[in-house]
Amino acid sequence: MIELGETLFDQETISSKVGELAERISRDYAGRKLLLVSILKGAVIFTADLMRMITIPVEVEFISVSSYGPALESSGEVTISKDLDVDIAGKHVLLVDTIVDTGETIDSLLRLFAGRKPASIQVVVLLDKKDRRKTPVPLAYRGFEIPNKFVVGYGLDCEHLYRNLPYIAEVFRATQ
Ligand code: IMP
Ligand code: MG
Repeated sequence: MIELGETLFDQETISSKVGELAERISRDYAGRKLLLVSILKGAVIFTADLMRMITIPVEVEFISVSSYGPALESSGEVTISKDLDVDIAGKHVLLVDTIVDTGETIDSLLRLFAGRKPASIQVVVLLDKKDRRKTPVPLAYRGFEIPNKFVVGYGLDCEHLYRNLPYIAEVFRATQ
C-alpha cells in the first residue's frame, strides 16, 4: 500500500517560488537565446509553469531518461530513451528538473551535453534532496532544499502515480 503523508509545499508556495526562479532566469539570460531542456516526465509541470513565468523569448526541448525503476530507490544507471530533436551547439542551455537526488541524472546529462558544445549550460531544479547527493552537480537555480523523504506531486511520481497532484507531499509504504 502506498500512502500520502504530509504536504511539504502547497500550490501557492510552489507558484511563488517558481515565479522567483523565473524572474532570476529572465534577468540573467536577457539578450541571450535561451533553450530550456526539460527532463521527462517529472519536469513537465515545473517546465510548463516556469516557462510561462519567464519573460524573455525561450525555446523548449524534451529529453527522456530512465534512472529509476518502479521502486523508490535509484538504480544508479542513466539511459537516454528519447534524445533532443535539435542541435544545442552555440545555444544557452538550461536543464530543467523538478528534483535532484543522487545527482546522477543531471551529472550524466551535463557530461553528455558538454560534448555537444553549447554556448553555456546551467541547471534549474525546484527541489534539492541535498543529503542524498553522490555526485556533486552545479545548481545555478534551486527552489527548496528538502530532507531525505520520497515526495510526489507537481510532476513527481511514485509507481507512475500522483504526478497530477498540484502540491508536493511525502509518500510512504504502509506496512501491513
Ligand atoms: P538522481 O539521478 O538520483 O538525482 O534522481 C533524479 C530523478 O529521480 C528525478 O528526476 C526524479 O525523477 C527521481 N526522484 C528522485 N527523488 C524523487 C522523489 O522523492 N520523488 C519522485 N521522484 C524522485
Ligand atoms: Mg519516477
